[in-house]
Amino acid sequence: MSSCRRERLAALGSYSIELLCPEDAKYVVEFYSSLDAFSLYYRFLGIFKDFEGHARRLFSGQCNYAIGAFLGNDIVALGEGFSDCRSAELAFAVKEEHRRRGLATVIAALLILEAYRRGIKTMEAYMHGDNYAAIRIGEKVGLNLECEGDVYHGKAEVAKVRDRCLNAIREKGGSLEPWYLEAIASVKP
Ligand SMILES: CC(C)(COP(=O)(O)OP(=O)(O)OC[C@H]1O[C@@H](n2cnc3c(N)ncnc32)[C@H](O)[C@@H]1OP(=O)(O)O)[C@@H](O)C(=O)NCCC(=O)NCCS
Repeated sequence: MSSCRRERLAALGSYSIELLCPEDAKYVVEFYSSLDAFSLYYRFLGIFKDFEGHARRLFSGQCNYAIGAFLGNDIVALGEGFSDCRSAELAFAVKEEHRRRGLATVIAALLILEAYRRGIKTMEAYMHGDNYAAIRIGEKVGLNLECEGDVYHGKAEVAKVRDRCLNAIREKGGSLEPWYLEAIASVKP
């Protein structure tokens, strides 16, 4: 057992948005198992079913991290940052019945802010060319998306898009926990 404790980073209405611990791998598996094939295809940009292996890889990487949105004890959205400690790649998904409430925007912005807090310098993302909502989010958080065949690829220095991310969270009605706001404000550039 690690000594990790799940920390609340932000709230959006009744949703509590939290930084996951390795012990939360079961939520990752449960979350992906609940998504339909179409959503999984957009999330993984291909057919993907090994959720347990995915959760193991996520939590075994030294600089990887994951952010979940909870309603009570249920995980309803998940964002992940896969990182080599210097750069990271983000991805996110939301359960169908919780979509269009700003959750993915808030999670994407938090994934970037969390990279900033951890000293990760750049963030990138790949989104399917038909995925209007994901592309819209990528643009909003400043990822400078460009079309590369079937996918859009975006990249940004996290320090340069920090304020955009804070604004995106505010615009969707989200609020950061005071300790987290302070942690972000005290990062040395
Ligand atoms: C893409 C996805 C994460 C969006 O989640 P969400 O919580 O509904 O997104 P948000 O509520 O933050 O909406 C983001 C923007 O997209 C728009 N949007 C969301 N769903 C939309 C839809 N079905 N049609 C048109 N616009 C849509 C919203 O209006 C919003 O635009 P705005 O900021 O200009 O108001 C969700 O549809 C999903 O889980 N899809 C499957 C997995 C996936 O595609 N992941 C992305 C790969 S990284």
